[in-house]
Amino acid sequence: MNGRRVLLGVCGGIAAYKAAALASRIVQRGADLDVILTAEAQHFIGAATFAALARRRVWTSMWERTEEIPHIALVRAAEVFAIVPATANVIAKLAQGIADDLLTNAALAARIPIVIAPAMNTAMLEHPATVANLRTLEARGVTIVAPESGFLAERETGAGRLAGEDAIMDAIEATLARTRDLAGERVLITAGPTREPIDPVRFLSNASTGTMGIELAREALARGATVDLVLGPTSVVPPSGAQVDRVTTAREMERAALARAPGATIAIATAAVADWRPAETHASKVKKTDDPQSLALERNPDILAALGARKNGTFLVGFAAETDAHEANAREKLVRKHLDAIAVNDVSGERGFGAGDSALTVLWGNGGRRELPSASKRVLAGGLWDTIVTIRRETRA
Ligand code: C5P
Repeated sequence: MNGRRVLLGVCGGIAAYKAAALASRIVQRGADLDVILTAEAQHFIGAATFAALARRRVWTSMWERTEEIPHIALVRAAEVFAIVPATANVIAKLAQGIADDLLTNAALAARIPIVIAPAMNTAMLEHPATVANLRTLEARGVTIVAPESGFLAERETGAGRLAGEDAIMDAIEATLARTRDLAGERVLITAGPTREPIDPVRFLSNASTGTMGIELAREALARGATVDLVLGPTSVVPPSGAQVDRVTTAREMERAALARAPGATIAIATAAVADWRPAETHASKVKKTDDPQSLALERNPDILAALGARKNGTFLVGFAAETDAHEANAREKLVRKHLDAIAVNDVSGERGFGAGDSALTVLWGNGGRRELPSASKRVLAGGLWDTIVTIRRETRA
């Protein structure tokens, strides 16, 4: 943690006193520490404790030094925002985007990863509102250090006790490590559907929204990569840090991807490319009275196979959207398209496409396999990058 920059937010629960020991651990590991205390936290522990540990002023209000715009300055200066303990109230505010004090304003302004360690009474932890709020935060990519079961302030035993200091330190360190594990990498991602025009108003396409590729792009940027995103038609908004190439047809997507491929160290093909296009595109709208008997089709180029055929040191990852015989089909694709890994996505029924949860199985090499259980695409993107980083590290060693 030497020289890394940590922002610690402390909320008002009895476990707030443990945040002082955590602050001490963080500075002993060589990190720079800023601390925000909520008004409620100060009922449990004083700012002087944290000021002495961090050797700098502690932030308790939006209004002390307005010229510094503290909520923005603090999250821009930090690499990770740890909220320890996180109360049910603050968790609810984070889930809703409420910003009514310095800590919640900073959290809303944070583009850095957030780690929270909840601590509260069992009934509050198990309340459906808290359960739903934690699920919302997790789906957004917030790391939750699960509370433990044990002795509570109420002199009873139950779930809700703040996680141990080691578990919280591990989560903060792992998050910091992730913020740089793609530094220096140039990532190329294809995403979204393609549209193959029949006439000026009609096309062949599919249900892809590009969400998986967009989340992979967002996560790669957060981990320090440069990202080229070749994106088919979608209303999902890509991250602002990516170099986005908007395309419509498979042939446009192929041209854009091949142009960007030579500089890429990692390429991931998430696009749901239309396999066929109409052999002929009518220049004007076909009238319903024209009563066409059939639509002649031509094969589109396989962009991923083209990337595989030309690859020169690029780590190439494909997706396999399958409804059956998932793994056997995917392994065959892994070899045939010269891939370094393939992520298998079950798209039977409602799963797979769109903004909902999904699950992936990643396959590589002769028998490499890792399951990423059902989660939001943001969480899956984190898991897939962890897997890619691990495979690359193993195959280089
Ligand atoms: O062969 P199949 O279409 O199942 O392979 C899926 C993988 O290939 C995905 O990674 C997809 O992005 C990519 N692909 C492509 N160009 C195509 C078809 C698929 O890049 N024309």
